[in-house]
Amino acid sequence: MEWSIDKKNQRIENVSQAEMDALVAKVNHCSWRQTFHVQPVTGLLNDPNGFSFFNGEYHLFYQWHPLGPVHGLKYWYHVKSSDLVHWENVGIGLEPGDYFDSHGAYSGSAIAYKDELYLFYTGNTRDEDGIRHPYQCMAVMNQSGDIKKFSGPVIDHVPEGYTEHFRDPKVWKEGNTFYAVIGAQRTNNTGCVVLYQSTDLVDWTFAGEIQTHLDSFGYMWECPDYFTFQDQGVLIFSPQGLEAVEGVYQNIYQSGYIIGEKLDLNERTFNHGDFHELDRGFDFYAPQTMLDPNGRRILIGWMGLPDIAYPTDKSGWAHCLTLPRELSIENDKLIQKPIHELQSLRQREYRVTDSISNEAKSYRDFLGETYELIVEFDDADSSEFGIEFRANKEEKTVIKYDTINKKITLDRTSSGEAVGVDYGTKRTCKLEAADQIKFHLFVDTSSVEIFVNDGEEVFTARIFPSQDSQDIRFFAKDGAVEMKAIKWDY
Ligand code: FRU
Repeated sequence: MEWSIDKKNQRIENVSQAEMDALVAKVNHCSWRQTFHVQPVTGLLNDPNGFSFFNGEYHLFYQWHPLGPVHGLKYWYHVKSSDLVHWENVGIGLEPGDYFDSHGAYSGSAIAYKDELYLFYTGNTRDEDGIRHPYQCMAVMNQSGDIKKFSGPVIDHVPEGYTEHFRDPKVWKEGNTFYAVIGAQRTNNTGCVVLYQSTDLVDWTFAGEIQTHLDSFGYMWECPDYFTFQDQGVLIFSPQGLEAVEGVYQNIYQSGYIIGEKLDLNERTFNHGDFHELDRGFDFYAPQTMLDPNGRRILIGWMGLPDIAYPTDKSGWAHCLTLPRELSIENDKLIQKPIHELQSLRQREYRVTDSISNEAKSYRDFLGETYELIVEFDDADSSEFGIEFRANKEEKTVIKYDTINKKITLDRTSSGEAVGVDYGTKRTCKLEAADQIKFHLFVDTSSVEIFVNDGEEVFTARIFPSQDSQDIRFFAKDGAVEMKAIKWDY
């Protein structure tokens, strides 16, 4: 279907109920609808926004274009949960349409303050020539869940030295001061992050740019998120425009982090180490974190990427969010673990322990479309071992470890309907692991998230297999491996 600019900018209330019902029916008919991930009722989901805990519940919003699988007019859609596992669809959280957000309520964050939840977002507007004029905006949600926009933007212009690509405020509080990082593009077309501060959340002062060691690192940094943890400072952001090099930056755009000493909020200097990608898979972007009431730093990402067509497009919807991951820091690296609450999804449990030698083996009850699977491999002397899943005679998705080159590979060459093939069908990463490798898989109808060695690396991917691709096979090449597997039906 052709999406003209007018069609992309259509508002939900201008579409008839009959058209909306037809779209819902089309979406629900899709065999790739997820079962335990946040996904849009219709249309396109992208970044997680406003991830927070307020009034006894977790709140989460996401970028939403309701009317089709395109980046059209963006709303914030609101979901909430008491356990971070089961999410209730609340409905539209923010709708665009005021002079300061006429062309979309873009990404942002939330902070609880004085019994209310303050939402900060970028109002995207375009003038007659199509030039963007971003505003940083605020809305307030009260205890009853009513959300009201503030009368005007809280930051109404882009400071000198930066372009119209200026968006995605993430707000936090330190001492008596509120701070916000905003993703920006310098007028020399390089990406960076700037800092604002405020004492009341309404009046914001431009403090300046955060000085990192990454002066020329892509053309735009989207969705920044800064937090301190275990006495260190962490800056997460999604840089656009990095060249793919051997083994890294293989996706169209990246998402990653730099860790260092705490950011000096007065000087705005950040002394940090190398940039690391957060996820080694195919579909991960624009993550956001929140500090939960138990002191955990929890991250959720968009399981998708901009500018790529997906097989669900023809069914009127696209994308979902990742599962929540709990962060920690080990040796200046972020470790990501699935939150323990996910265990509540476990139903029947199956176990197997075996030795696999130069073969591929299947086991009774080790099959399915949606499940959790933990496999521990203890390598004796094989050159390669791993798992084929969502498999039938023709299709398979593969996660494996190459013991000679010490490399993990996720291979979706034969996963089913193709997606993003221009960017390759394999993702790898080095893992100088010992002889033991643990793969922890969460398999939903059209996705997989694989936590390697308790969160040292994560591979996230959408996959689009046929419904009868349900086999799981464990394999080893050129030698033997000891294998211990547990599977839970979901
Ligand atoms: C990242 C992003 C943000 C923007 C939003 C618009 O995916 O481009 O920078 O606010 O999506 O939907």
